[in-house]
Parts: sequence; structure tokens; C-alpha cells
Amino acid sequence: MIFYCYYISMTKNKNIIVSPSLLAADFSNIKGAVEIVEAAGSGWLHLDIMDGEFVPNITFGPKVISDIRRITSLKLDTHLMIMKPERYIKQFADAGSDYITVHFEATYHVHRAVSMIKTFGKKAGVSIVPATSVGSIVDILPYIDLLLVMSVNPGFGGQKFIKETLKKVKILKDIRNKEGYNYKIEIDGGINRNNCKEVIDAGVDVIVAGTTIFHAEKPAEEIKYLMSCRQKNNI
Ligand code: DX5
Ligand code: ZN
Repeated sequence: MIFYCYYISMTKNKNIIVSPSLLAADFSNIKGAVEIVEAAGSGWLHLDIMDGEFVPNITFGPKVISDIRRITSLKLDTHLMIMKPERYIKQFADAGSDYITVHFEATYHVHRAVSMIKTFGKKAGVSIVPATSVGSIVDILPYIDLLLVMSVNPGFGGQKFIKETLKKVKILKDIRNKEGYNYKIEIDGGINRNNCKEVIDAGVDVIVAGTTIFHAEKPAEEIKYLMSCRQKNNI
């Protein structure tokens, strides 16, 4: 009984990583945004790279990441929303990314892309858009460090959370348990105070959030809220 209670409390208090998405921050003050994230203590920073082809928006490239790398030791969680990402993996690795995530839908050779990321000594992630099923990526799961489930169609911040994507989180968690794989499950898009509990209960390890953090009056408070969302909602 004592062991059971201990187990339940450990499960409930599992640390959730929050990876604030710079996309929603004021790009005229990136340093300020980095300092807010550092002060909140989440440890990660999510960097959305968009090419205007895989997604209908353009953001920034490796130069911005290498400049951020110089001013912080946060884990840089680079999300490549670009076609044929193999062409740019070296540049994003050299820029100082810690995690590099490619989209399953953006390359013919996702295994090759994952291998390249590892060759550069980086953690390798694969992402799937809302319309891609887990069945498409089961064969890459043994090789990756992170599986990013998009809970909006990639391209823009501030979109509405697509709840059905949580089914994939549950399946990915079950496969990981059954097979003994090591990937973290990350979710990205439309996460806020209202849905963080169901997202965490579904089994995610890493929450990406942009708008709810950087459009808030006190961004650091939002990060802290998301980090302790499960406990707060259980009170
Ligand atoms: C969307 C990006 C997200 C985005 C999330 O394509 O991948 O990382 O910044 O932003 P919010 O939290 O505003 O949905
Ligand atoms: Zn993202």
C-alpha cells in the first residue's frame, strides 16, 4: 500500500519539460525572451524554422540560433519545418542546437536524416503533422530521442489545439513502454492553461507553448504554471 501511494505520487509529480516557442516572442528583443525562459527554469527553448515551402510561413535560420547559443545554456530544441531537411542539418548542428527535429512528411529518407543528426552528436527528433498516423513512423521509433506530435497544422503560432492528436500520444507511450524505447514525447501547438492537464495526462514529456507564454503579461509565470500544471489541476 505504501509503495502504491509512493508510486502514484511519483507519477503525478513527474517533471514536465516546457519548451517555450520563441516564435511568439518579440524578435526585436530575443535576448529578453531568453532571459525570461532562463529565469522560469524550464531549461529548454523551442526554435521554429520555417521555409515557406513545407509550411506557408518563413522564420529564421541557423545564424539566429548560433547567436542565441552564445548567450545561453538552455537546451535548444530546433524544429525544422523545411523540405528535405538533410540539406541543412549540418548548419543547424553547427549553430549549436541540442535537439534537431525533422518532419516525417518533409523527407523521403527520414532514417537518413535521423542518422545525420546523430552523426553530428545531436539528439534526433521526428515530427508528425495532425494527419499523419503513428503507423507511418513505427519503424523509426527505435532510433530517435524525441517524437514531436503536432497538435496544430504547422506554420503559425496561435492556432486552436486539435484534441484528437492526443490519441497518438497515448499510442506512442504504449509502444515505448512495450518495446523499451527511449524517445521523449513532445506536443506542439495550441497548448495553454486550459488544456495542459489533459495533454500531460495523455503522456507527454515535453510541452511546447508560444502564444500563451509570450503574449501573457507575465511570461515567466505562464511557464511555471505549465511546468506544474498537473499538480495545480489536481488540487
Ligand atoms: C507551429 C510551431 C509552434 C508554435 C506554437 O508551427 O511549430 O511551435 O510556435 O505556438 P502556439 O503555442 O502559439 O500554438
Ligand atoms: Zn514548433
